[in-house]
Amino acid sequence: MSSSLEMQTFHCRDGHTRITVVLSDCMEGMSSLVKPESVDVIVTSPPYNIGVSYSTYDDTIDRATYLEFISSWADLARQCLSPHGSLFLNMGGKPTDPWIPWEVAQVIRGKMKLQNVIHWIKAISIDHDSIGGRTPLREGLSVGHYKPVNSNRFVNDCHEYVFHFTKTGRVPLDRLAVGVPYQDKSNIGRWQSATQDLRCRGNTWFIPYETIQNRQRERPHPATFPVRLPEMCIKLHGLDRCKLVMDPFLGLGNTALACLNLGKEFIGFEMDRNYYEDAKSRISSAESAACAGQPSLFDTLEP
Ligand SMILES: C[S@@+](CC[C@H](N)C(=O)[O-])C[C@H]1O[C@@H](n2cnc3c(N)ncnc32)[C@H](O)[C@@H]1O
Repeated sequence: MSSSLEMQTFHCRDGHTRITVVLSDCMEGMSSLVKPESVDVIVTSPPYNIGVSYSTYDDTIDRATYLEFISSWADLARQCLSPHGSLFLNMGGKPTDPWIPWEVAQVIRGKMKLQNVIHWIKAISIDHDSIGGRTPLREGLSVGHYKPVNSNRFVNDCHEYVFHFTKTGRVPLDRLAVGVPYQDKSNIGRWQSATQDLRCRGNTWFIPYETIQNRQRERPHPATFPVRLPEMCIKLHGLDRCKLVMDPFLGLGNTALACLNLGKEFIGFEMDRNYYEDAKSRISSAESAACAGQPSLFDTLEP
């Protein structure tokens, strides 16, 4: 890899698999460092253009310019993606701008097939009666974290989208890699496909943020996803069909951390030096823990 861009490479537990993070605009990074059709999985979350306070990026550009930018990076991302690759695109909106995720999806619709729409559920409340009294908690269950909306017309926004785009719409997935056990064990063996106590999870993924004590120290970025989200996406694509993962909008490096946990080669780009430095120090701590045989420092799925 020859380039004048500032970058750093870390290694997975095996000492060989590389996690590379680059301080650069993703457009320059993808065109100069990534070979066409070399990436198997892209998991990413671009800025949503809903006025998030990033340390340098302006998240309030006019809509047409924003959608042109989406179109440009998606063209490059498509070029980088292998013919059977997956692009998992995380997008959220806000109550006063609920269409933006779908407008972004619509731009990419002209380039790729929308194979799945996954709902990332950040918080949920389940009434006692609605699950047939299966929880001993009489008040039901409320789990997860969200940013409350102070309004008499909007309800709290507790979910975001993960649009799964592929080039053909026919990419086989490893559904059971993120499967869940059957509630009713008599289903095992009843259906032809049910040979083990695992079924497809469906498209509602409850992935809470980790509880933190100090936002500035532990999550110094206004718009991250939990490590578990890219881990699940990569596993759903299929670990044995995935060599290289890319995230054009690295942020704090949560997709990189997922790759470190899963032992997958990674390249990611971040144009803001503050987030780039934070991502490097998080990856470095996780790399040291992994090399010392310690469990991941960041939330992770069971292997
Ligand atoms: C929604 S955040 C991604 C957060 C990331 N998924 C995480 O969990 O930390 C979008 C990031 O993209 C960065 N960014 C915006 N435009 C960029 C560009 N053209 N190239 C590279 N990074 C960019 C912003 O600085 C911001 O950190």
